[in-house]
Amino acid sequence: MRPGTLPRLLQGTPNRPAAYAEHVATFGELAPRPDLIDELERAGLTGRGGAAFPTGRKARFIRDQRGHRKFVVVNAMEGEPASHKDALLLATNPHLVLDGAEALARAVGARDVVVAVARDRTATIQHVTRALAERPDRGIGLELQTPPGRYVAGEESALVHWLDNHESLPQYRPHRPVVLRLDKHPVLLDNCETVAHVGLIARYGADWFATVGVPGQPGSALVSVSGAVERPTVLEVALGTPLAQVLAAARADPAPRAVLLGGYGGTWLPARDLDVAYDLGSLAERGATPGAGIVVVVGHASCGIRETQRIVAWMANESARQCGPCAFGLPAIAQDLARLRDGGRDALDARRRLEQRCGVIEGRGACRHPDGVVRMVRTALATFADDVAEHESGRPCAGARAGTTVASVPRLEHERELVWE
Ligand SMILES: Cc1cc2nc3c(=O)[nH]c(=O)nc-3n(C[C@H](O)[C@H](O)[C@H](O)COP(=O)(O)O)c2cc1C
Ligand code: SF4
Repeated sequence: MRPGTLPRLLQGTPNRPAAYAEHVATFGELAPRPDLIDELERAGLTGRGGAAFPTGRKARFIRDQRGHRKFVVVNAMEGEPASHKDALLLATNPHLVLDGAEALARAVGARDVVVAVARDRTATIQHVTRALAERPDRGIGLELQTPPGRYVAGEESALVHWLDNHESLPQYRPHRPVVLRLDKHPVLLDNCETVAHVGLIARYGADWFATVGVPGQPGSALVSVSGAVERPTVLEVALGTPLAQVLAAARADPAPRAVLLGGYGGTWLPARDLDVAYDLGSLAERGATPGAGIVVVVGHASCGIRETQRIVAWMANESARQCGPCAFGLPAIAQDLARLRDGGRDALDARRRLEQRCGVIEGRGACRHPDGVVRMVRTALATFADDVAEHESGRPCAGARAGTTVASVPRLEHERELVWE
């Protein structure tokens, strides 16, 4: 593949999965790469599932674990309602994901790969099933598993717990780093997009990977753009691309009020902060991260408090409710946001309670689900400070009166509804 060009991961025909022969014609055969972990570290690839952990370092950690058996798990659960990137990737280049998984398995000493797709994603399940059936056997066992499709089911410990024949619940892990275990054997778990990048780096190397992107964060990333946009889109962008360019590609509201970045446990960025490059370092300077590659645009016809309340109510409902912060804290936050949204006599008290509740909840769950919600709510109160002031004074803002909502809760159905760039 030519250096410096895009698309990489989405090369091919959107929504028509490349057959194995087409895949090899596009990307070439995948030769064994004994130095893969070094190359991943040199490439600076970071995970695309949310936390941006260095992929090479994680693979090295699992390679160094003792054990006669290990597993690689490809996390294609894509539980974020505004995320469609993994579904589109598997609808376009499923064999690139499987290549990356096989290469990782060899690198860490695993013989088994499990691809996990949420049960309700019927189109994605078909694409993966077909790809597995037509793929030549290269000595690594490849298997599809379909856990229930709840938001927390994609959290790594919940996913491995389910694969290990238990409930789909996140596990409390006080000490890190933690080795996830399946049938007592070490597991390397990576996001579906991350694994597809591995499929490319295994072929073309770290220097090729860095021919797009910025020095601090080389490479490309998939971004799902939705909300107040004319064309909800999944884009493959070079890291370091101006966010304005990402918004323009989806024909976003030309003067948005704000965007939600990273996902429903992400960060609101106000209009004044949108002149930023889309990469880890630049977004960190504004207190945000790319997260799972999600951008939700909110225009002036919508109320930021109303959007935030809808998202928190959904997140509260999706939690596993096994810890206090999720069982009691998130519903209480959703309720306070509803009071603030309605702008009645309770609005001022609700606002004060919100700040208090966020402080109490933070860091107290078994997983990071409630922390994400707290971050999103705090940044909402700052980003939509004007709305908050109007609601507190008893007058819901124009957006709340209009009642226009843009954040997709619940999710859009399947990748067919997407427009590809
Ligand atoms: C509540 C919650 C839900 C998550 N859901 C997903 C998901 O659907 N897909 C995913 O790849 N990662 C999800 N993650 C992140 C995973 O736990 C894990 O960090 C990630 O899959 C690791 O892959 P990466 O290193 O390639 O990013 C979730 C995390 C949390 C806290
Ligand atoms: S913090 Fe919430 S989502 Fe995470 S394990 Fe506890 S109840 Fe479940």
